[in-house]
Amino acid sequence: MNIFNPALLRADADVPAYVPKGNECRLFETAWVRQLPLLLKGPTGCGKTRFVSHMAARLGLPLATVSCHDDLAASDLTGRFLLKGGETVWVDGPLTKSVRDGGICYLDEIVEARKDVAVVIHPLTDDRRILPLERTGETLEAPPGFMLVVSYNPGYQNILKALKPSTKQRFIAIDFDFLPRDQEIVVVSGESGLDEAHVAPLVDLARKLRALKGQDIEEGVSTRLLVYCASLIDSGMPAREAVLAALIEPLTDEPDVKAALREVANAVIV
Ligand SMILES: Nc1ncnc2c1ncn2[C@@H]1O[C@H](COP(=O)(O)OP(=O)(O)OP(=O)(O)O)[C@@H](O)[C@H]1O
Ligand SMILES: [Mg+2]
Repeated sequence: MNIFNPALLRADADVPAYVPKGNECRLFETAWVRQLPLLLKGPTGCGKTRFVSHMAARLGLPLATVSCHDDLAASDLTGRFLLKGGETVWVDGPLTKSVRDGGICYLDEIVEARKDVAVVIHPLTDDRRILPLERTGETLEAPPGFMLVVSYNPGYQNILKALKPSTKQRFIAIDFDFLPRDQEIVVVSGESGLDEAHVAPLVDLARKLRALKGQDIEEGVSTRLLVYCASLIDSGMPAREAVLAALIEPLTDEPDVKAALREVANAVIV
């Protein structure tokens, strides 16, 4: 059965620009149609958040994004009783609201959240698709239009923060990485306004710096930083200054490493 339905898709000015690197758009659409939860993994600044907002807009779905942090508990997602004018009233959290109304709920950096978040997510991400609200005694059934998307960066997490297999194995997963050279040039140029001929050496430099990941630097240069760098140059800043501020300083605080990265940069950017 071909469930891919282009009629579902919109492409207009309201849709955030996104250049695909593989079959991720089709996977997303299919997962949404078949009511399957989706997990995106990949390094910082490679386009995960942009992808989700692009797909939500293309499918015309409301998007609720929650940036998870180490203090985020299940009740921050489900909701809580609050005192309002002397009365105690239940207020839905973003996940509950999404389940009631339909649309996409996107939990960014899910591994950061507290352990009790898994308890809430598990019944919602298997074939039950339910959200039990312990405090109110309600059990919500997710409507067909509800989709849960989560993302995390497997690179710099310590092992204690890795997702448990029982959580991971509830999702269709897409491994994100940086775009191939020519597509990354198109993206950085489109986002910053700097012409492709001037963007090309920046992308080449980023690819060289990415090869040093794990040796001297924790994470490779992100597409986000490349966009920043190209924006500085597009505003008239000399390339070397922009490279130092946007591609080298954010990567390391170590003077030795910085000097080594500057050498690599000086060989590429004249
Ligand atoms: N495929 C792409 N198409 C269009 N723009 C992209 C793409 N990939 C990256 N970008 C650009 O890079 C920027 C950073 O991407 P985004 O914020 O989606 O990264 P992320 O993977 O969510 O990072 P983090 O893990 O740090 O949250 C975007 O704002 C956009 O300018
Ligand atoms: Mg993000």
